[in-house]
Amino acid sequence: MLKRILLLFFVCALSLSCSEKGREEATRDHFVDKLMRQMSVEEKIGQLNLPVAGEIVTGEARSSDVSARIRAGEVGGLFNLKGAAKIREIQKIAVEESRLGIPLLFGMDVIHGYETIFPIPLGLSCSWDMQAVERSAAIAAQEAGADGISWTFSPMVDVSRDPRWGRVSEGAGEDPFLVSEYARAMVRGYQNNGVLACVKHFALYGAGEAGRDYNTVDMSRGRMYNDYFPPFKAAVEEGAASFMASFNEIDGVPATANRWLLTDVLRDQWGFEGFVVSDYTGIQEMVEHGIGSFAEVSWRALDAGLDMDMVSEGFLSHIKKGIEQGRVSVKDLDRACRRILEAKYDLGLFDNPYQYCQEEKVPGFVFSPELRKEARSIAADSFVLLKNDNVLPLRKEGTIAVVGPLANTRENMPGTWSVAARLEESRSVLEGIREAVQDKARVLYAKGSNLMAASELELEKRSTLFGRTIPRDGRSDAELLREALAVASRADVIVAALGEASEMSGESSSRTDLNIPQVQRELLQALVATGKPVVLLLFNGRPLTLEWESAHVPAILDVWFGGSETGDAVADVLFGAVNPSGKLTMTFPKNVGQIPLYYAHKNTGRPLPEGEWFQKFRSNYLDVDNDPLYPFGYGLSYTTFAYSAVELSAQRLKREESVTASVTLTNTGGCAGKEVVQLYVRDVVGSVTRPVKELKGFQKVSLAPGESKTVHFVIDASCLGFFDSSGNYVVEPGEFQVFIGPSSRTENKASFTLYE
Ligand code: BGC
Repeated sequence: MLKRILLLFFVCALSLSCSEKGREEATRDHFVDKLMRQMSVEEKIGQLNLPVAGEIVTGEARSSDVSARIRAGEVGGLFNLKGAAKIREIQKIAVEESRLGIPLLFGMDVIHGYETIFPIPLGLSCSWDMQAVERSAAIAAQEAGADGISWTFSPMVDVSRDPRWGRVSEGAGEDPFLVSEYARAMVRGYQNNGVLACVKHFALYGAGEAGRDYNTVDMSRGRMYNDYFPPFKAAVEEGAASFMASFNEIDGVPATANRWLLTDVLRDQWGFEGFVVSDYTGIQEMVEHGIGSFAEVSWRALDAGLDMDMVSEGFLSHIKKGIEQGRVSVKDLDRACRRILEAKYDLGLFDNPYQYCQEEKVPGFVFSPELRKEARSIAADSFVLLKNDNVLPLRKEGTIAVVGPLANTRENMPGTWSVAARLEESRSVLEGIREAVQDKARVLYAKGSNLMAASELELEKRSTLFGRTIPRDGRSDAELLREALAVASRADVIVAALGEASEMSGESSSRTDLNIPQVQRELLQALVATGKPVVLLLFNGRPLTLEWESAHVPAILDVWFGGSETGDAVADVLFGAVNPSGKLTMTFPKNVGQIPLYYAHKNTGRPLPEGEWFQKFRSNYLDVDNDPLYPFGYGLSYTTFAYSAVELSAQRLKREESVTASVTLTNTGGCAGKEVVQLYVRDVVGSVTRPVKELKGFQKVSLAPGESKTVHFVIDASCLGFFDSSGNYVVEPGEFQVFIGPSSRTENKASFTLYE
């Protein structure tokens, strides 16, 4: 009876909220209809135009006089302009000086924080803590939202398995399930705090050939639907308001004008109702792609389902002519214009166009000590301990040598795409360590090397193009090394802060050599040769190749780029105030030749038997084994954990049933710690080949020393099926293996059978 009453209550509540939603939509439709009836063709086209403003540009900016364009009703939004007062001034032109007074959207690349900067997304994902991910997006939205921004070009949810691609730093790694969870958390964090998310780059941008940015993509539909699309679909389900089309082609047609992608998949299959913006000059670039003149590609993009033109001004220049020549339908123009007006309506901009300009809130709130404290703790949880031969945590005593070109730089700490950051107020490693030890230990510093050798000046220049340099020390490489060794000789332990500068990963920063730059490796080798304990504090926006380091350096802590609070977060982990708990979300290969290397690969018809190095006529290499250096899901702690065998609540089940898989986890070490318990599933036999393992769940568990907890995962059809090449989800009967363990390499497993 109680159940029935509850059900009735639920149904009533649902229909009430449905009708409320219906009413709201009707009011919005009425408003937009009325407005659009007053709009000229030119004004409608204007709404689709998104020029860039401000100093942050990643290409050619077209509009010369943006204010005049706004006054003429030729602009729908602006992006990368910073500051509530400036934004208010521009908004005023739109609202008070244009004929219809339609407010502008103000966008920005708020990627991993606004002024309070969190770890780069790849690092953030290594926390496997979706509450922390959501919180970081919420803080970013609150800060940006107070300072005039209503729309962020984030999250980037491109799955990527190629660390040569510099933009892996902006995503959450190689796994569709994990990236989907991340996508949901980010969309919630932004949109529950009043800022529109823009999910990018739709789609397959992370699969450019040879890891070269903007390069050609060619991929099967099965792989798209199963591996590259899921995070985008998850974002739609979470209510994401906008999408950004990617630069690359799909089946020979650039995403920007790909009707199958933007309309058939995104709208018809997934039910997306928001708007789609191109990437920076995405329309114009289709001329270079070679699919038509500027006018033709502009028409084609609109027809395919693109709604807004970032920077190209192809819509502005060619749509009207297209309509006159019968090449563009007014219906398509209306559709796109309506979607943008709807987004503005939903944000409340027609009621209060200045609601995002909270000049009085900014000073005490943005980059406040409270928010920075949260960023510090999230950063510490993103670090991954790759190796530790009893060196860490360090004691605050004796003499500590802090060495390396990344040790004393504030501006490199936030990492790529932190356009609103106060770089000079970020915390460096040296500052963090000094602050933590106070007068308990002596801290010595030497730069040790420049970012790159004197012989690599051109490469160094290209690697720091956006201006976050590590100023070159006038002394020779040899002199710098000598000084570092002198400092090291007086120390009990050496902390070497080495790796990439922040702009060596990110957009337009592909690399084919994934080693730490040679001059820094030489420094590291010399430091290790002293025989003193060395901690490699690794800065990187992507997996690097670390074979020598992992064999010879006693401790390696991967700190990515930890955001504005990096220095203090590093000190928290080095001295044990925080026990590291991050786990890799991208495989670290042994060498570049192994790429793409990812855990969820297929078995092939000639797999290498487990534990083997090489067998003739098997799928392997002559010169390196198939294993990664560090696998997906891997990361150490200052304590240790033991897993019990996997237990299943059933050995046989029907399609509509579920099974619970459990393990008991025990903290077997000497301090409290957090462990990311990972669930993988293998569909042993399918109508098409299936990966050897797929992540289907994870839980981050905190345990005191000696404490045990049983962790349960419910496995149902949503974990067992796959998408066929038309995008239909199918679940096939047969045997499934369930793995639960500390990384993707776990062999702790049980199996069950699914039957019709
Ligand atoms: C990038 C996008 C970014 C846009 C706007 C492009 O170059 O690919 O990710 O959102 O610029 O700054």
